[in-house]
Amino acid sequence: MDHFDFCDGVLHAENVPLPAIADAVGTPVYVYSRATLTRHARVFRDALAALPRRHLAFAVKSNPNLSVLKVLAAEGYGADVVSVGELERALAAGMPAADVVFSGVGKTAAEMRRALEVGCGQFNLESEEEGLELAAIARDMGMTATCTLRVNPDVDAGTHGKISTGKAENKFGVPFDRAAAIYTRLAQQHGLLLRGLALHIGSQLASLDPLEAAFTKIGGLMREIRAAGGTVTHMDLGGGVGVPYKAGDVFPSPEAYGAMVARVTADWDATLMFEPGRVITGNTGVLMTQVIRVKPGVAAPFVVVDAAMNDLARPAMYDAWHDFVAVVPSGAQQVANVVGPICESSDTFAIGREIDTLAPGDLAVFRTAGAYGATMANTYNSRPLVPEVMVDGDKWAVVADRIDPATILAAERVPEWLV
Ligand code: LLP
Repeated sequence: MDHFDFCDGVLHAENVPLPAIADAVGTPVYVYSRATLTRHARVFRDALAALPRRHLAFAVKSNPNLSVLKVLAAEGYGADVVSVGELERALAAGMPAADVVFSGVGKTAAEMRRALEVGCGQFNLESEEEGLELAAIARDMGMTATCTLRVNPDVDAGTHGKISTGKAENKFGVPFDRAAAIYTRLAQQHGLLLRGLALHIGSQLASLDPLEAAFTKIGGLMREIRAAGGTVTHMDLGGGVGVPYKAGDVFPSPEAYGAMVARVTADWDATLMFEPGRVITGNTGVLMTQVIRVKPGVAAPFVVVDAAMNDLARPAMYDAWHDFVAVVPSGAQQVANVVGPICESSDTFAIGREIDTLAPGDLAVFRTAGAYGATMANTYNSRPLVPEVMVDGDKWAVVADRIDPATILAAERVPEWLV
């Protein structure tokens, strides 16, 4: 459910007609709905409310916009970060450092130092080597780093291969069969307080079954470590559930996820930690675009829009589907290909899809673009970096500027010896 609805035939973000934003800011532009963001944050939180001890760390990678983070901070969310850049954003948004979880397979020594310096609440270690390095840095700083060990449960998440993370051949976590031994060794390191296990098997999961299998497996490992005298007080269960991108698709609800977690972890006696991203921010945003022109194609016409794969990379990278609707639909439909202006065929949003009939100058949106949208944007083809707008009731504001190619060009230097 979101707050992008038609009112008098015009698509609105809450109470704001989208053409008003296009007129003022131009296109392409991401538009976020604060009410949708808050709603999803609450739905996910409420779905886990029955768990005795829990910690929610929003996956900043899904949408790192400062205003988005501020809304989530006010809803009591901490942050799951994977770089110092994300860490600084979470702090700038007012999230307490103690509520930040630092994930990621390639934390550098400088990042570890900075995170320790600000009092980062937990590091999710991805290898024994990383644990030893963090221990040495923490000792050097006269500090103790609170950690969990990320385990690779070797479970197939059943999602797109590029966003699967929990199979043995993936780069994430330590191998399941070596995890207990690594845990024991790292728990003895001065400079580390190893307090639990972590996992994350992938994103955009369409079923709860692989999650349940992974949680059951890691629960067994927790018992094994405890039986051998180890301490496990925290269990980080990774990202959230998938979201429907296509009208009519049905995905596991946060409530069903919460019920499954409660059942599987009933006797765990641990603080459960969650790193939801997409389930909170996905429906929070749309990418608004304008049709540049329509050109004939062999099987169907090409609707060329001013958004491209640099603004929304998901279709090009993961063959992802985003519903595409006119901002002011005429009622007529056509079968068309929706493409951007970039000079490669992967700059395609839809092929042979039935869409609202569109003409040059018309506005349209890609829905469910709030997660992994603007955050993955780049300037390929020397295009501007796409701006972001936040709507709240009948108010709206630009929350990230369009960065124009001239600004990017100005950051480049030509050495004197070159010419
Ligand atoms: N925790 C960890 C350790 C992760 O790696 C991720 C996502 C999350 C949490 C959040 O997962 P979520 O709740 O959003 O499913 N760019 C891709 C998605 C990459 C996800 C990477 N990790 C896409 O556009 O589909």
